[in-house]
Amino acid sequence: MNKKRMLVVGGSSLLGYKLLENGSCFELYSTYNKNLIVSKNTEIIKINIVDEKDCQKILELKPDIIVNAAAMTNVDYCEQFREEAYEVNVIGTKNLAKIAQQLGSKFIHISTDAVFSGEKNQYVEDDEPNPVNIYGKTKLESEKIASEVSNYLILRPSVLFGWMPSKYLQVRDNSVKTRNFALWILKKLNEKQKLSIVDDQFSTPTLADNLAENIIELIKKDMQGVFHTSGLSCINRLDFSKKIAKTFGYLDNFIVPCSSKELKQIAIRPLQSCLNCEKIVKKGIKLLEIEQAIEIMHNQIKKEEPELIGETSEKK
Ligand SMILES: NC(=O)c1ccc[n+]([C@@H]2O[C@H](COP(=O)([O-])OP(=O)(O)OC[C@H]3O[C@@H](n4cnc5c(N)ncnc54)[C@H](OP(=O)(O)O)[C@@H]3O)[C@@H](O)[C@H]2O)c1
Repeated sequence: MNKKRMLVVGGSSLLGYKLLENGSCFELYSTYNKNLIVSKNTEIIKINIVDEKDCQKILELKPDIIVNAAAMTNVDYCEQFREEAYEVNVIGTKNLAKIAQQLGSKFIHISTDAVFSGEKNQYVEDDEPNPVNIYGKTKLESEKIASEVSNYLILRPSVLFGWMPSKYLQVRDNSVKTRNFALWILKKLNEKQKLSIVDDQFSTPTLADNLAENIIELIKKDMQGVFHTSGLSCINRLDFSKKIAKTFGYLDNFIVPCSSKELKQIAIRPLQSCLNCEKIVKKGIKLLEIEQAIEIMHNQIKKEEPELIGETSEKK
């Protein structure tokens, strides 16, 4: 039987990397914009999703499935450059959705817990979204556009993290550095730098590997609709960071707690945006507790980039 064609838009994202790594059951196509990628068995094309004409390159590929993992994900940057955020997150999605509809492709759109205000915790899919920052607002608008495609699937993860080899990206722009909270913490610990981490922002961090595996599973099941697909553990950033330190063999005395008020981030953050994922778990999808997720990342780094492992790792 011929393999289905999957196009990963935003193959240069963390999630894109994991999808291409796990997607050998598909004929793989991927896009990048600023950061060219190296990936075996994948046809790679450059597309700026803001440019409607550029997106028409997809018509020739005729993918059965389009996964939109492209977005402007830097929350503070979105707040400062609102128009750019709107262009990428809203207009970009509109351009892709139009093509998916034209081709009759399945459109999988990756959204976020940031569509919620963060005043409730354990949000279910039917809870009213009410984003508190530009990133969340543009992502909510993109959800509305995605949901107009006949065969759509909207997934909401939260704080994506995971390991990605630095050689995967050929060209690097400044935004790449801050994309992955867990890897950022690890690099700072490795450099023995002091970290002020908020203890009042709670979320359900999502291992990108797990999300990618689940996306493939959901394609096989031809699932449609809106689903929360994060990790299972509701945890604040401070405790998340400390768990990373412990698992990777670092003492956590370089990590000091602070409040969101003290940190003065540019964009307001939802404080309690943990997602309730029961709806998807009931469909047989496996999600991870935070310890399991960090352990998977730890095992990969131990093998692939052991210089990031701390001194107390073996004694755990
Ligand atoms: N990061 C998180 O904590 C988080 C949490 C919840 C949900 N999400 C959602 O999950 C998805 C993937 O996130 P991620 O963190 O894996 O992404 P990421 O690593 O920040 O990468 C962003 C991707 O978007 C692409 N992109 C940006 N502007 C583009 C444009 N104009 N045209 C084409 N591509 C463009 C980038 O391409 P180049 O690098 O080649 O320019 C890159 O592939 C996003 O939809 C995000 O909103 C993320």
